[in-house]
Amino acid sequence: MGEEVVFSGIQPSGRIHVGNYLGAIKNWVKLQDQHLCYYCVVDYHAITSPYEPGAFSQAVLDAVAANVAAGLDPDRSVIFVQSQVPEHTELCWILGAVTPAGELQRMTQYKDRARVRREVVNAGVLTYPILQAADILAYKGTLVPIGEDQAQHLELTREIARKFNAAYGPTFPEPQVSFSPSPRIMSLSDPRVKMSKSIPGSYLSLMAEPAAIQETVARAVTDTGPTPGGEMSPGVATLFHLLDAFAPGETAERFRAAHRQGGLRYSELKAVLAECLIERLEPIRRRYRELMARPETLKDIVRHGTARARPAACATLEEVREKVGILKV
Ligand code: TYM
Repeated sequence: MGEEVVFSGIQPSGRIHVGNYLGAIKNWVKLQDQHLCYYCVVDYHAITSPYEPGAFSQAVLDAVAANVAAGLDPDRSVIFVQSQVPEHTELCWILGAVTPAGELQRMTQYKDRARVRREVVNAGVLTYPILQAADILAYKGTLVPIGEDQAQHLELTREIARKFNAAYGPTFPEPQVSFSPSPRIMSLSDPRVKMSKSIPGSYLSLMAEPAAIQETVARAVTDTGPTPGGEMSPGVATLFHLLDAFAPGETAERFRAAHRQGGLRYSELKAVLAECLIERLEPIRRRYRELMARPETLKDIVRHGTARARPAACATLEEVREKVGILKV
């Protein structure tokens, strides 16, 4: 694989959880060894959901700290905040002119939110995927590591790139998706839906204290008990996904064999899983605490990332403005 331009983003809303980590961030960390990587805290996306303005800039720094603590390296990767590069929102407007409105209305995430609170759904929720396309295309991104829930948005990004190229001449590559081995971690409280920052009890924060890890894992939904050779229920499958990611391989195998034979005790599985999570997340939590105690360092990381991102986005915008025929004086 030649050098790719990798782009991905995360919302600064609530706690970053093991679903974000296994579905995206772990993959981001790996990719930064081989490629030019842009990782962005997407604050303008986040304001389309209810949020607390007074606490928002702190939440953005919090997300930066969590990502760095999880292994993103501000010297190798371009780590920055969306609003600091206003070319994203400018490109979003231009791309809006080639985006079919019907496609936006077909997006699952839009439909889900419109269904829950139809009367308050704002236009930002509808146009959200255009800004996501602009994020990626501002850097001519070629590879986008995301969880499965973002696949539809990426498909639309590809369509927007094609439509722009058809109207104005070849400009953007069609970015490819990169999925991790666990692109969809389900909720611990309801395995029918994905683990989500917006559903308390569904997620395990990457920064959780040991007692909270134990409690969240102990409460995770399972079933009444395995039968020999029986199917694995979705809740139990989620625990095994976490075990695969955080426990030594032989531990996961031992529990899998016990499940097949119908002799697995979920309480034992949960106790071991919690211990493994506590041990593996400890260094992340420690680095996170250290960073949060140094807000100036965090701001320096954002300034440094912005200084690297902005010239690239500006170059794309100059090309785009010219192709679209915007006045230059
Ligand atoms: P966000 O903030 O919801 O999630 C960040 C990343 O975590 C992944 N993810 C999951 N993966 C597996 N299992 C889960 N339960 C789970 N929950 C979340 C998401 O798929 C995502 O990769 N719209 C995006 C942010 C965004 C973006 C972009 C992404 C804005 N611009 C440009 C890529 C490229 C979002 O809300 O992600």
